This record gives sequence, C-alpha cells and structure tokens, in this order.
Amino acid sequence: MSKPFYITTPIYYVNARPHLGHAYTTIVADIARRFNSMRQVETFFLTGTDEHGDKIVRAAKKENLSPRKYVDKISGLFRTLWPELNIKYDCFIRTTDAFHVAIVEQIMQKIYDAGDIYFSEYEGLYCFGCERFYTERELVNGKCPDHGTAPEPIQESNYFFKMSRYQDWLIDHIKNTPDFITPERYKNEVLSFLKEPLEDLCISRPKKRLQWGITLPFDNNYVTYVWFDALLNYISALGYPDGDLFKTFWPVAQHVVAKDILKPHGIYWPCILKAAGIPIYKQLHVHGYWNVDQTKMSKSIGNVVDPLQLKNIYGLDTFRFFLMRDMVFGLDSNFSETAFVQRINSDLANDLGNLFSRVLTMVHKYFSGVVPQVDTRTEEELRLGLKSDAFRTIEKYEEHMEMFAFHKALMAIWELISQMNKYIDLTTPWVLAKKKSSRKQLEVVIYNLLEALRIISGLIYPIMPETAETMQKHLGLDPQKPFYYLEFLKTWKTLIPGTNLPKSITLFPRIDLKKNDTSPPGGGDRSSRPAAIKPEITLDTLSKVDFRVATVIHAEEIPRAKKLLKLEVDLGERKTIIAGISEDYTPEDLVGKQVIVVANLKPAKLMGILSQGMLLAAVDENGCTVATLDKKVKPGTSLS
Ligand code: ME8
Ligand code: MG
Repeated sequence: MSKPFYITTPIYYVNARPHLGHAYTTIVADIARRFNSMRQVETFFLTGTDEHGDKIVRAAKKENLSPRKYVDKISGLFRTLWPELNIKYDCFIRTTDAFHVAIVEQIMQKIYDAGDIYFSEYEGLYCFGCERFYTERELVNGKCPDHGTAPEPIQESNYFFKMSRYQDWLIDHIKNTPDFITPERYKNEVLSFLKEPLEDLCISRPKKRLQWGITLPFDNNYVTYVWFDALLNYISALGYPDGDLFKTFWPVAQHVVAKDILKPHGIYWPCILKAAGIPIYKQLHVHGYWNVDQTKMSKSIGNVVDPLQLKNIYGLDTFRFFLMRDMVFGLDSNFSETAFVQRINSDLANDLGNLFSRVLTMVHKYFSGVVPQVDTRTEEELRLGLKSDAFRTIEKYEEHMEMFAFHKALMAIWELISQMNKYIDLTTPWVLAKKKSSRKQLEVVIYNLLEALRIISGLIYPIMPETAETMQKHLGLDPQKPFYYLEFLKTWKTLIPGTNLPKSITLFPRIDLKKNDTSPPGGGDRSSRPAAIKPEITLDTLSKVDFRVATVIHAEEIPRAKKLLKLEVDLGERKTIIAGISEDYTPEDLVGKQVIVVANLKPAKLMGILSQGMLLAAVDENGCTVATLDKKVKPGTSLS
C-alpha cells in the first residue's frame, strides 16, 4: 500500500514562454502528486527545462542574446510560473545543469562501450523545428506533420544508436506490462508503429552545424542529439546511479506527456534504458492537445493562451478545476473562455458554492454557528444513505484519480453534491427547525451535511487546494492536521460537536459573461448596465499595456463585415487596426481624428486582415463612442 510515488512532466523547450498546454501537464502532475500525498506515501515531483539544440540557438539569436543568457531567462519564466499556479515540485532540472551533463556523458559512454552506438554516413530529410530526420512515409504531402514545412535534405556522418535491436523486446515489454502506456489508445498507437521495422536513432549532431549541446564523450567533433540528452533528465535528477532518491523513486517512475512526444517516450526512452542496463520506467500517461479554434495551441503557431492571465482574471482554483473538468485525459479539448465561465458559474458558484453556504448558513441560523451534538440512534435513522453515498464517492474517486480520469473523479464528487441537495430537500431542515420536538433530528441532519462537506473538502484538495483549505477552516477542522488524508476521509463522524464555525462565505463568486473571448476590438456589449469592475491588477500588470495616441490616416469599410472598419493609423509607425465601430462611425468621421489605441496587443486576424492593435471605445445602449484626447498631441505619444 505504501509504495512511493514519482511523477515527471516533460522538460519544456525554452524557445518560448510557457502557455496553457504546459500549464495543463504540470498541473496534472501536481494533482497526481497531491492525490498520492492523500494516501500518505512518499512523493517526488520533477519538472524542468530542455535547453540544448538548434531550436534554442535560433530563438536566442532572434532576441540577440547568447544561448546561455537566453536559456537562463526563459527557464526562469517556467520556474517562477509554477508556484503562481500552486504547483509544488520537488526538483526543477535544467539540461544545462552540470550534474545532468555528467550523467549524459556517462550513459553515452556506457552504451558506446557496450557496442550499441556506431558511426555511419547518413543522408536524410531533416526538420529543424523537430530537430530530427524524417522518413518519406512519415511526411504529409512532403512536409513535416508538425510544422507544415518541407524538411531539408542533409548529408553527414553521424553516430547511431542501435535501436532496431530492441524492437522485439519492446513489443513484448509493452504487451506484457499492463498499463505501461495509458490510455490504451496510445499503447495501441505505439504497437502499431512497431509493426514496421524500427530504424536506428541518429544521436549526434556535428559541431560544425551545432555547438550548443553536450559533447560526445567519445568524439569531440560532435554534440549529443537533444532527445538523447533530454530523456536522461528523469534519472539524472534522482542522482543516478547511487543516489537514495534514485533507489526509492526510479522503480515507481510515472511520466506525463502529451501525444506530440509519445514516440520519444514510448520508444526511444525504453530502448535507451534497456541498452544502458537500467530498469524501465513504470508508466507513461499520455494526454491530448488543448486546441484553439480546433488547431493545436502552440508557440510556433502563435495561438497561445496565457495561464497567468486566466488566473488573474478568474482565480487559480477555478482555472485548475476547469482544466481537469473540461479535458478528458487522453483526448483533445478546445479551449474557450465562454465555456470556462459557464463551467465556473454552474459547477462552482451554483453547485458546490451554494451547497456550502446553504449548509453553513443553517448552522449559524439554527445553532449559532456551533457544530451540533448528535444522538447516535437518531443519527443512524436519519443518515438516509448519506454516509454510504459519501464512502462510495471516495471509492470511485480513488479509482478514477489512479487512472488519471480527473473529469470522472470530479463527476463523482458532483454526484455527491447532488445527493446532498436531495438529502436537504428530503429532510427539510427548515420544517424541523419550527418545532422543539424535532430538535434532535435537526441536529443530526445538519451534522451529517457537515460531515459530507468535510469529505468533499478533502476530495477536492488535489485539484483546488486553496478552496479545500478555506472549507477546512469554515468546517472548524484542525488547521495542523492534513484534513485530506484518505484515512480521515474514510472515517465518519470526525467533526467535533461544540466547535465554533466562522461565518459562511461565498466560495466562488458568479462571473458576469459580458464580453466573450471572440468579440472584435471595439465591439463590446451594448447593455444598459455597466459591467462589473474587473478584479484588481497591480501597477506592474498595467505597465505592460502600451496605450498610445494614434492619428487615423485612412479608414475604409470591410466588405461583408457588418460592424468592422479597417483603419490605417500613425502611432509613430504605421499600423493597421480593425475596429468594430462601423455602425456608429463612417470612414470620413474618423480620418484625421486622434484616437487612443493599445499598441502592443498581439496581432490577430479578423476577416483575413491582420489587426495590429486595439482602438479604445466606450460602448453603451446608445452605441459606441471612440476615446479621444481634448487637445492634439504628437502621434505615438504614450499615455500613462
Ligand atoms: O517536447 N496541449 O518540449 P515542449 C497540451 N523538450 N499540452 C501541450 C500543448 C498543447 N497544445 N502544447 C505543449 C518538448 N504541451 C521536449 C520534451 S521531455 C524529456 C523533452 C505540453 O516545450 C505537453 O506536455 O515542446 C507536451 O508534451 C509538452 O508541452 C511539449 O513541450
Ligand atoms: Mg513541442
């Protein structure tokens, strides 16, 4: 029962800042880690950054930084983002860490000495985006399936890892190890790939083409291929070969990745481990993509969603909840802010939030905020199955969490929430409260509800740790005790009668869906009531927005777009801005006007035209009024 637990995320490339996709994987790992701490087992959680290779060198060049300076900067963004999302990792590894480099050299040498690495001439099609060679049959219309670009033919001598030798062994291992790759569809994908002969893996890059990497210990003219370097992080971080961490945690290693890197993890990695004489990891969990408009969210496509921004607007726990509730682990999910807000309002504000405040309000109304005494006989009579419902919920929850079926675990909790609402309807506490003779019953009903809420507070802990703690406080649970241990959750009647409870609060405020995420700039909501003031931001956040004065040079209607005008503006430089204001302004109204724009908004295409900023306007029931200054200033002047 008390086996330790080791979980890893991919180490992310530092060629761009983190986005929602990275946040999802890392939150999944955090949740799995927290779930295992509910079982009181020893846990270790590894994440980090992948810092060598072509991709990184090119990204550094773009920013005019040395690779070293550049990787420090972007790696820092990942490392500091995770605590903001309440992700508690034990180790953050960087492939530029000296101890990691030493292990890569050691294992390379070991495999080389064993005769599994050979030198050979190679000619092939190379995708610089993926940093790997492609075979003709892997290409889609002659292009890289991931980047949509044609790979370049490259001819060079390189070192190769004899992966083909391990093909039959790997097929057997996958077939004989239940749950080695989950969900099942990805295991099948790997097995179907292994039906074709496995090619050897090119594991070097000549230094004349790339220097930013780990030099091969047996040939100074080459660096190690990034994937060979990167995969080894999972053991170097544990202090392979003799470290205590390695001994404790490696036998129970579980990796979490998305399907983009199924092949390196499902094929290269087990073969490398086998060749190096290291036991194979225990499990690989593979999830799908977060898409935007049905296209994979990705830094190379540029359609990314910023997790911090979502946290700042909607709160962290709601964000973590949404990610887990909306994505079926293993399948793709389309991200939409509208769906997000609807989910918060229905599941969190309505269901959980209302139930919580409903029960606590009754404790205050009927018992002056004190946990009531319970008469055991009445308790049994009036439990009406609530205890067994709660225990069944825990059982299902454990089963689903174990399988990474987070959405199902949440559905099980929400079933209990609805059973509790039914329990309230059935027992009608407000009727019991009217008669002195039913006081005992009332005590028991409220006590049972508090107990079930206590169990819910524990079950949501991995996904919504802050909310769980707020509930803990409001249920009068010992702040020193880990209320989320399954051992406590599986014990009924642990709340202590007589405990004073703080006043009820709103766990999740409802969110007003005034503007949805697809409304064009300037085209706001024409309601008669102003929208609620948005959550506070700091000066630091505000200073990131570049407000500028712009003079409209040219304006025209966009055929087929009812509300949009295309503006050419001068804000020190010339930019095109699309604004949803044509119901209130003609192009002539605008030419020569000085308007206020957000100059650094990420460009977005509207009706096939790239809009490079956003015009500020007030929108009310009378229509839209463009913001202007009361005196003329130089175009491009900043507002502060
Ligand atoms: O592949 N949806 O790094 P990477 C869901 N350095 N998850 C996504 C996602 C999306 N749209 N986009 C990214 C690498 N991810 C290598 C890994 S490991 C030894 C080396 C997440 O920065 C997901 O976990 O491209 C995916 O597998 C990972 O980021 C890829 O990160
Ligand atoms: Mg990638």
